[in-house]
Amino acid sequence: MTDQLSTLLSESRRFPPHPAFAAAANGTPELYRAGQADRLRFWESQARELEWMTPWTTVLDWKPPHARWFDGGTLNVSSNCLDRHLRTARRNKAAIIWEGEPGDRRTITYWELHREVCRAANALKALGVKKGDRVAIYLPMIPEAAVAMLACARIGAVHSVVFGGFSAESLRDRINDARAVCLITADGGYRRGSVLPLKRFADEAIAACPSIRDVVVVQRRPGSPGDEAFANMTEGRDHWWHRLLDKADPDCPPEPQEAEDLLFILYTSGTTGKPKGIVHSTGGYLTQVATTMRYVFDLKEDDLFWCTADIGWVTGHSYVVYGPLANGATVLMYEGAPDWPERDRFWKIVARYGVTVFYTAPTAIRAFMKWGESLPAKHDLSTLRLLGTVGEPINPEAWIWYHKYIGRERCPIVDTWWQTETGAIMITPLPGVVTTKPGSATIPFPGITVDLVDQKGAVIPTGGGLLTIPDPWPSMLRTIWGDDERYRETYWSKFPGRYFAGDGAKLDDDGYWWILGRVDDVLNVAGHRIGTMEVESALVDHPWVAEAAVVGKAHELKGHALAAFVTLKDGQRGTAELKDDLKDHVVRKIGAIARPDDIIFSADLPKTRSGKIMRRLLKDIAEGRALGDTTTLADPTVVNRLKEMYEGEEG
Ligand code: WTA
Repeated sequence: MTDQLSTLLSESRRFPPHPAFAAAANGTPELYRAGQADRLRFWESQARELEWMTPWTTVLDWKPPHARWFDGGTLNVSSNCLDRHLRTARRNKAAIIWEGEPGDRRTITYWELHREVCRAANALKALGVKKGDRVAIYLPMIPEAAVAMLACARIGAVHSVVFGGFSAESLRDRINDARAVCLITADGGYRRGSVLPLKRFADEAIAACPSIRDVVVVQRRPGSPGDEAFANMTEGRDHWWHRLLDKADPDCPPEPQEAEDLLFILYTSGTTGKPKGIVHSTGGYLTQVATTMRYVFDLKEDDLFWCTADIGWVTGHSYVVYGPLANGATVLMYEGAPDWPERDRFWKIVARYGVTVFYTAPTAIRAFMKWGESLPAKHDLSTLRLLGTVGEPINPEAWIWYHKYIGRERCPIVDTWWQTETGAIMITPLPGVVTTKPGSATIPFPGITVDLVDQKGAVIPTGGGLLTIPDPWPSMLRTIWGDDERYRETYWSKFPGRYFAGDGAKLDDDGYWWILGRVDDVLNVAGHRIGTMEVESALVDHPWVAEAAVVGKAHELKGHALAAFVTLKDGQRGTAELKDDLKDHVVRKIGAIARPDDIIFSADLPKTRSGKIMRRLLKDIAEGRALGDTTTLADPTVVNRLKEMYEGEEG
């Protein structure tokens, strides 16, 4: 048994809901009953909370593995996030409170946001962007990122947001795969005090993107890095965002969308070298995102919700933009790093604006823990009333620390399990209803079914196994962009008729889920999904590398760190300089999030007789464990040599 599993199994602390919280909570036991009694009716009643232009005729049309939700219905996501609030007292309420890393601030009301989105939508139309066209968005965490997404939704264009930390090559591949016609980027973005020159990366990318006709450039800070030379504008192709918007009409009627029309594509790592374009649709996605937002985060009219995820990840899509705005909430957006200029930046922000609900990743919590409780203790965190985590398993110690030093033992914690593919939260406690256990994501959200299966796909009631989802859910991915076969193969072929999430899990006697992490070749590094194959492809792209195998090695802060075992071509020497060069090479190919922590040169890699690299053994080596079964190896001496070498280097 792994150490992780035994720690979880011995976790016996329980945190029942506080009666005062429970009394006012949005979530109720009745909600679970309704979800159980009739899933479809439950989701239908949630869908009614949205504003539809025409009602649906069928709730669910399920032809495995393809689901259509709310067929016949039409709606527009941006008008659900904006226009309907203008008819209420929310009109002048803050929609977005934003803070830039250098300390600049903006507050945008629903009224203002609506006008900005309409202007941006008209600007896109003027550039010839039509319904169904793909628009790539490569921006820092600035309000324009939300405006750009909502503008696409308004006219029925499909956005593909690419995380600003990805390299030019990653951006290029994503643009080409989606055949995007327009790119929205910025001159730069701030990260730990320096300017990330996004437009330069964008220029490098689109030199090889024939589908891009226009580039719209947000001037991140007029006057400073944003002077025209810095952005290197190309006449005819590049346009300043502010000039286009100045000219555009602030009125743009929302395009009616079919419930199943695409809302966005979001690329995520899989088990091959090529990222998958996860496709999300309109009606089902917004229904589940808005519903989970309301109940999981117990959203109240006067809340200030802060989700620290970047807009480049699914969490940023669902819980920075669509979930909060569909519910008329005020959302806080922060551009920069948690440790800039000091390690208490987040707590300063919580205190300055009075954040009430805070949602972050375990990797951040572990960093805060390491930096010490005296930092949050310096700030007034009394406005916080609910905390959340997402992205990776949270170890009970980190959970307890979060509870004690951030929640000050008052705030419930919601540990939410979901994926880019699921679109919205799937397993989570409802605060005020469900007793929590540190390290467990607890039970499925109402109307969601999850099954634990063994290796053969048989459902098992308790114990360890694999996480699968037998029934379609509203915000599920619809396919992989341009590759429906891969969609079937990746998610639905291992256990026919069931969605296989790629995660291992344990179900305890109370029916609580303990997520153990990926069982495929996908790694979770600091809450970011990275495919081992992607990093391997980047390494073998280097002219001196013959072969590479990448494994995740347990890491105190990041969950996993990347260890790369590299075989060089004949005649090349594995020097310290080459290690740095290889790390930089991976950063150039993918982005800084994929920089390997360790590079180990080796004359051979352990392989089975059929030539498959035994990553499991490499992981044993990287984590300093006794070697597992080596009997299937073609040459068992290889691993022992490697182990000696690795330990020699570490010591
Ligand atoms: C992991 C992020 C344990 C899991 C929303 C999943 C989690 C992958 C949790 C998806 C959690 C996410 N507890 N593990 N609460 N939430 N994961 O697509 O391995 O970036 O498969 O979506 O993160 O990562 P993704």
